[in-house]
Amino acid sequence: MSFKKTADTLTKGAHTLERDFYTSSQILSNEYKKIFQSQWICVGRSEELTAVGQYKTINLGNESVIILKDEKETIMAHYNVCRHRGTRICNESNGKFSKSIQCGYHGWTYALDGKLVGAPHMNSVENFNKNDYSMFPVHVEEWEGFIFINLSDDPKDFDQTFSPINGRFSNWNISDLKTLEIKEYEVKGNWKLVIQNYCECYHCPILHPELAAIHNYMGGRNDLFEGPFLGGYMDFNNGKDSISSSGELCCPPLPNVKEDDKKRVYYYSIFPNMLLSLHPEYVMYHTVWPLSINRSKVTCSWLFSEEVINSNNHKIQEAVDFWDMTNKQDWYISELSQLGIQSEKYSPAPYSGQESLLAAFDRYYKQTVK
Ligand code: FES
Ligand SMILES: [Fe+2]
Repeated sequence: MSFKKTADTLTKGAHTLERDFYTSSQILSNEYKKIFQSQWICVGRSEELTAVGQYKTINLGNESVIILKDEKETIMAHYNVCRHRGTRICNESNGKFSKSIQCGYHGWTYALDGKLVGAPHMNSVENFNKNDYSMFPVHVEEWEGFIFINLSDDPKDFDQTFSPINGRFSNWNISDLKTLEIKEYEVKGNWKLVIQNYCECYHCPILHPELAAIHNYMGGRNDLFEGPFLGGYMDFNNGKDSISSSGELCCPPLPNVKEDDKKRVYYYSIFPNMLLSLHPEYVMYHTVWPLSINRSKVTCSWLFSEEVINSNNHKIQEAVDFWDMTNKQDWYISELSQLGIQSEKYSPAPYSGQESLLAAFDRYYKQTVK
């Protein structure tokens, strides 16, 4: 029977995960299988793929995926695997195909939609039919301007999966926002430490004095506290209007954001690897990727209205600078967590009442990998 919480309370006896979850490569292989190759994973924004043929590649363990805009301007994704002898076709992280995708080994050539259109000298092979050798497709969905992929052959329905948060952020009109900047970080820590760190502000007074001056770690409420989507809001302190170097708005609030929401920031984790932070005047999101059991890649992107980006308002850089500093404080402590957890002496300890979302993340995570 599934257990549904109706209030954000810390489950009795909730404690941190056992060491293996941060140190065992067997656990990482299982995470690739059950999580990163089975769940809907955010891979960026559709606006990154502006022109036909533009692509980015995503690596997930042994898998690599090409995400691109095809001739019909549809965003598609294909396994980065040649149907001839399996060679990885594209070795760049992003770029633009002219009209087709060609394998660099023997020149098998695919249309942008994945169909095999050229295979030198294969005409003489009995019963060879190009239609049987399209690139392997990967499921793609767009939500609020974000691209999600799912490597499962039979993925869970996207709309049903996202129903708990569908429409929840409509006042921010996220699909209309544009990316001001993307920063990429490497963190010497397990990917879950980055997510867990995001899910609490218990550490804010010590680790982030600058952020603690903007919002009080006790001044908020979680409104999603069980399942794949977790989070809530934190109210700004008196005299503070947003999260930026000055604590002021960096540009006018987004037009449809309600009065109450102009006084707070919303933080949500979207299982497994997306963190979404909604401010009155901009939206920030992180994606988190395991590179190995104790190394992760994190991207952080800042989204503003197109009008603001085009206005050359230098103040918007304050949002980037502030969060870049805060991100680095978080990565620093996550790396120290990894080091301490690797000790033979580490053992699980109780979560505090400020860490109920970590307990909820761990619970959902364990359900998913079992
Ligand atoms: S492996 Fe790709 S064309 Fe031969
Ligand atoms: Fe933090």
